[in-house]
Amino acid sequence: MQNPPPSPSREVPRRLRSREWFDNPDNADMTALYLERYMNFGLSLEELQSGKPIIGIAQTGSDLSPCNRHHIVLAERVREGIREAGGICIEFPVHPIQETGKRPTAGLDRNLAYMGLVEILFGYPLDGVVLTVGCDKTTPACLMAAATVNIPAIALSVGPMLNGYYKGERTGSGTIVWKAREKLAAGEIDYKGFIKLVASSAQSTGYCNTMGTATTMNSLTESLGMSLPGSAAIPAPYRDRQEVAYHTGRQIVEMVHADRKPSDILTREAFINTIRVNSAIGGSTNAPIHINAIARHIGVELNIDDWQTYGRDVPLLVNLQPAGEYLGEDYYHAGGVPAVVSQLIKQGLIHEDALTCNGKTMGDNCRDTEIEDEKVIRPFDRPMAKAAGYSVLRGNLFDSAIMKLSVISDEFRDRYLSNPDDPDAFEGPVVVFDGPEDYHARIDDPDLEIDEKSLLIMRGAGPIGYPGAAEVVNMRAPAKLLKRGIRALPCIGDGRQSGTSGSPSILNASPEAAAGGGLALVKTGDRVRIDLRKGTADILISGEELAQRRAELNDRGGYPYPASQTPWQEIQRGVTGQMDTGAVLENAVKYQRIAQVIGVP
Ligand code: FES
Ligand code: MG
Repeated sequence: MQNPPPSPSREVPRRLRSREWFDNPDNADMTALYLERYMNFGLSLEELQSGKPIIGIAQTGSDLSPCNRHHIVLAERVREGIREAGGICIEFPVHPIQETGKRPTAGLDRNLAYMGLVEILFGYPLDGVVLTVGCDKTTPACLMAAATVNIPAIALSVGPMLNGYYKGERTGSGTIVWKAREKLAAGEIDYKGFIKLVASSAQSTGYCNTMGTATTMNSLTESLGMSLPGSAAIPAPYRDRQEVAYHTGRQIVEMVHADRKPSDILTREAFINTIRVNSAIGGSTNAPIHINAIARHIGVELNIDDWQTYGRDVPLLVNLQPAGEYLGEDYYHAGGVPAVVSQLIKQGLIHEDALTCNGKTMGDNCRDTEIEDEKVIRPFDRPMAKAAGYSVLRGNLFDSAIMKLSVISDEFRDRYLSNPDDPDAFEGPVVVFDGPEDYHARIDDPDLEIDEKSLLIMRGAGPIGYPGAAEVVNMRAPAKLLKRGIRALPCIGDGRQSGTSGSPSILNASPEAAAGGGLALVKTGDRVRIDLRKGTADILISGEELAQRRAELNDRGGYPYPASQTPWQEIQRGVTGQMDTGAVLENAVKYQRIAQVIGVP
């Protein structure tokens, strides 16, 4: 933590949005109705008509969202900060999202929580909001809603869990699952040993302690300028986390007085900073989906190619699992996001004048931060890996898909990326699975034709096919290959991949098979060629054959996917876009900066 926010003391020159509800002589009937009911939870008439800013706490923690549950405790400190800075606090629930517990996938709930929060921020008497973020999708859902409504908003991360250990080794959330399932499949541990090994990674309240989607999105929220500098990496149970909760409460009151809104912070420069930080931290492949979604809701141009243009050649500096060895506590003690940003500033890779929530620029917040532990955050000239961002691929398999370069092995990198004279592309016969259930049913079938040259394809796992897009592209190799020591096969898919996975995968393929993408046309046994240097991915069949398969697919009515099980699944399928453009509710994008409609002069 650094730079506690300034104490807001000046007079409020502006008529706040909440006055439209609580102090509106032109609409006395409604004012009286609003007042009498809000007084019911203990607010006095004087307070409600005092002109103090009314600050919402968007509470994402609950028993259903254990990753964010600690926000219930932290909210008390946020309230104290709000009150002491002269605000009134109203806390309300956000639709819960828990990444690992939600079926069929938490991806389905991001847009639902977004939509619910938009209605709350728009329709109730709130002048500003504290977004309590943490578990993977809770962070983008909250930021997307704040972008759409555009009232002053600040994010408070719940922070990562403490480090996990097993027999002296660090065990990281998610990452240990992928390792343990290989050990289980190879017969090295039994079911009980498997559960024990995985459970060792979860030592306390908080979100996943690896550089999974949660640590990524909370770090990127800070690099966007939407949370206090130095706040993202503080572990959930630490004293410093309570302190930053208090300062976040104080800061939002100052932001309301200054009328500092998401649109002032979420500029194209802030997004480009964030793409670069994402490479340097080894961020999750879910980041482009969520960050592009936030950009669309605030109305900033950002596309999937920007991730390669600005991010691909940035080196990996943060040595966290799955790309490295350390975990959340180590990241915090090494300096967290400001230490990473400071390294990038020295290389001229950060737009230093990007405004942040505390009213200072990104440069002022981070410029002087030193790395505290160079084992965990490397200096720019001694990175973990060079060019650690994403490659964007395209071809007859899809219009775009990404590959995360920070997790591929040195051998793979040398062979396919680093040596421009080597004509090798990786090429092999594919084994195609239609959704995760099909994969689980067949991967260990002794008759499955598969060897170390095979590529695995997962389709039917995109925003429409598996509503919300499932995190299933990181497929383990079959037991018969694992027992021979072959631990990973390249995977390609139209689903997502957990940020905690280190597989060499090509994912987020857009359009997905269910939206008519080329993945719908591929068959088991086809050869597929991936050329990372050219950025291409193609099925090696003739144009005529491809057209023939396309015609047959159309005759069958398109790629089949399972029926919706809930009303929201059906609604979401009807309006979702594809992952390259954020998988947002397409008809929501035109609603921008809507707080202006009520009460903001
Ligand atoms: Fe919630 Fe990882 S499952 S943060
Ligand atoms: Mg995840």
